[in-house]
Amino acid sequence: MRRILIVEDDPSVRETLITFLQDCEGYNVDTAASTSEAFKKLAAESYPIVISDVYLDERTGLDILKAAKSANPDCSVILMSGRGSMETVMEATRRGAFDYVAKPFELDQMLEVVKRAEAAALPSDDRETDIDDLPETEMIGSSPAMIEVYKRISKAAPSEATVLIQGETGTGKEMVARMIHNNSNRTQQPFVPVDCASITASLLESELFGALRGSYTGADRDRVGAFEAANNGTVFLDEVGEIDHGFQLRLLRFLQEKEIRPIGSPRAKRVDVRVIAATNRDLAKLVEQSKFREDLFFRLNVVPIHLPPLRERRGDIPLLAHFFIKRSAERYGRDAKLTESGLRALREYTWPGNVRQLQHMIERLSILAPQHRIDEEAVLDAIQSMSSKEAGGETLADTEAEQIRKVLAATGGNKSRAAKLLGIERKTLYRKLERMGIT
Ligand SMILES: Nc1ncnc2c1ncn2[C@@H]1O[C@H](COP(=O)(O)OP(=O)(O)OP(=O)(O)O)[C@@H](O)[C@H]1O
Ligand SMILES: [Mg+2]
Repeated sequence: MRRILIVEDDPSVRETLITFLQDCEGYNVDTAASTSEAFKKLAAESYPIVISDVYLDERTGLDILKAAKSANPDCSVILMSGRGSMETVMEATRRGAFDYVAKPFELDQMLEVVKRAEAAALPSDDRETDIDDLPETEMIGSSPAMIEVYKRISKAAPSEATVLIQGETGTGKEMVARMIHNNSNRTQQPFVPVDCASITASLLESELFGALRGSYTGADRDRVGAFEAANNGTVFLDEVGEIDHGFQLRLLRFLQEKEIRPIGSPRAKRVDVRVIAATNRDLAKLVEQSKFREDLFFRLNVVPIHLPPLRERRGDIPLLAHFFIKRSAERYGRDAKLTESGLRALREYTWPGNVRQLQHMIERLSILAPQHRIDEEAVLDAIQSMSSKEAGGETLADTEAEQIRKVLAATGGNKSRAAKLLGIERKTLYRKLERMGIT
């Protein structure tokens, strides 16, 4: 251990690194001034750490990276360059470079990276967990509470009954609605979701019932409403608890008569739609407070399905975590490992954002966790940065440049997707990239 190969054609950088790492810090340093010299050394000896310049001669640091990794897959390769570009950085990260240091750098900064590489190579007694056969199903969870949910779904699906799905944010309400539709006789017909929370009361009418051209300002063509578009299929009324009191009566009438009259149209039309509604509010309580019509509540609540929050079915966390890891592996090519301590930390968290939050956290960790090992420290870091984001701060820890590089590499340079995974605004990402000298 403590053996390092430095590949650098610039003699002054080479000498500085030797003096610092060998004479001051006690590492056993070997050097190569060209790629061909480096290839010879890599073939002759296995190095745990290689520090290489990117632009050398006719071949580059990326070739060194490849050779070092094929000689010793556990080798940590640290690349350094004064001419970093998005392409080389992404390529280096994709090919498994341990880190990428921009020149000029402070010697302490290089030492910190080398120390991290060393620590990463130490054996750990925090074993990796695995699950033998992940279910092939779309919906994951085998806790008693979820089994109850599946029973309800299987009974409700083939019936024509209206279903009301209640549960906190991110518990899978939309997923359940789609499953009911997909397992019903209407599966070949449209499934039309309407997010009642994001549509203003005045627009909701045309959104649901449609409007003829010219019937109101801005209606420059006929608008087919969701109930008509979903004819013979299913309409999913998401966040139905947000519908304003006045409009609730219109909806009730529709549910009773299954007739629509587009705004501006003299005639009513009959449609055949099944309605599935969902809300993350306690509708019974809204009824008590006279904020939701009781008659509409009963009309919707023919088959109630309650989705339990994740913290009440922690037993499902291992299965869900491994499922999302596998999916991230397929999506980003990052085969992360979840350790025992990491799993413990996941199980202990309260998950205010439920399954969706767990999914986002695993995606993020699959890309960002050091050595792709999701251990306790990585989980606690992720929880920390997610919660400071909720508190309104623009997050990303001290190693943010590294995080940004990794996420960009995983998303193939897709900045919107990267910003989402990093939990920051796209504008913020652009600003940070500019500061990193990447455009
Ligand atoms: N049991 C589950 N198994 C696998 N994935 C799940 C499960 N539950 C939820 N998800 C995933 O979590 C995410 C959130 O689910 P969904 O959109 O259905 O939640 P929701 O209850 O409608 O949330 P909101 O109230 O915020 O609209 C989706 O990506 C979904 O695929
Ligand atoms: Mg939803």
